[in-house]
Amino acid sequence: MTGRLQGKSALITGSARGIGRAFAEAYVREGATVAIADIDIERATRTAEEIGPAAYAVRLDVTDQASIDAAVKAVEARTGGLDILINNAALFDLAPIVEISRESFNRLFSINVAGTLFMLQAAAKSMIGKGEGGKIINMASQAGRRGEALVALYCATKAAVISLTQSAGLDLIKHGINVNAIAPGVVDGEHWDGVDALFAKYENRPLGEKKKLVGEAVPFGRMGRAEDLTGMAIFLATPEADYIVAQTYNVDGGNWMS
Ligand SMILES: NC(=O)c1ccc[n+]([C@@H]2O[C@H](COP(=O)([O-])OP(=O)(O)OC[C@H]3O[C@@H](n4cnc5c(N)ncnc54)[C@H](O)[C@@H]3O)[C@@H](O)[C@H]2O)c1
Repeated sequence: MTGRLQGKSALITGSARGIGRAFAEAYVREGATVAIADIDIERATRTAEEIGPAAYAVRLDVTDQASIDAAVKAVEARTGGLDILINNAALFDLAPIVEISRESFNRLFSINVAGTLFMLQAAAKSMIGKGEGGKIINMASQAGRRGEALVALYCATKAAVISLTQSAGLDLIKHGINVNAIAPGVVDGEHWDGVDALFAKYENRPLGEKKKLVGEAVPFGRMGRAEDLTGMAIFLATPEADYIVAQTYNVDGGNWMS
């Protein structure tokens, strides 16, 4: 049986762990070759080894243009071109408005927004050069759909990702490049362990309580798992999604309607 992504070359940022890793595993199962592109090169290397020969690690810091350009070149050299980008790397932070620091603002916007835009730009240039179109999937969040009292910066970065998906999607479709986004709700894993610890600090809760509450509040009845998102990530990368342009899809167990 041939996979739905047979012969495709994908780069997934931040895929050493978490949702990005689940995407990489799913893409490899569907026949793609996947660059595990992450700032944590040791973990990316381990992850690639665990996934198998169709995955390979690439050092990438999405805040550094030279690193972005080198990662795209590495993919071109290894596979002959880039067909699919998932812009997945991101950072979370939490603070009341009166405590937000410029340092946190700069770090979050530099990874989540500038990182997404300039990674997308480099991928688009490579895809235009190859002349066969492509698929770009950005990771947004339910946090980009509305603000949250303690989560101003992260929410603002994810709202920007939704907006960039619209503009880039409208601009790049003439090259046969589809740009769309996925907005997950709450997905269990190391990322949410960190989020839970921040809520514990600022809302004075025991560790694990926030996670339990947000899970119970999901209409589906539990927190998401990384694997809940892979179906959408595969679909958006196939020709079946060719007519889908500049959209952000909620995959969140019913948390948000839009
Ligand atoms: N987990 C959730 O509940 C949730 C919900 C909504 C949206 N999302 C989004 O989904 C995506 C994946 O989330 P996750 O839970 O797997 O996160 P995660 O924190 O587990 O993984 C993020 C990865 O990005 C890498 N990274 C960080 N900075 C980088 C940089 N400068 N350059 C390259 N790589 C870098 C990290 O090393 C890590 O491997 C993110 O965009 C996140 O905002 C997650």
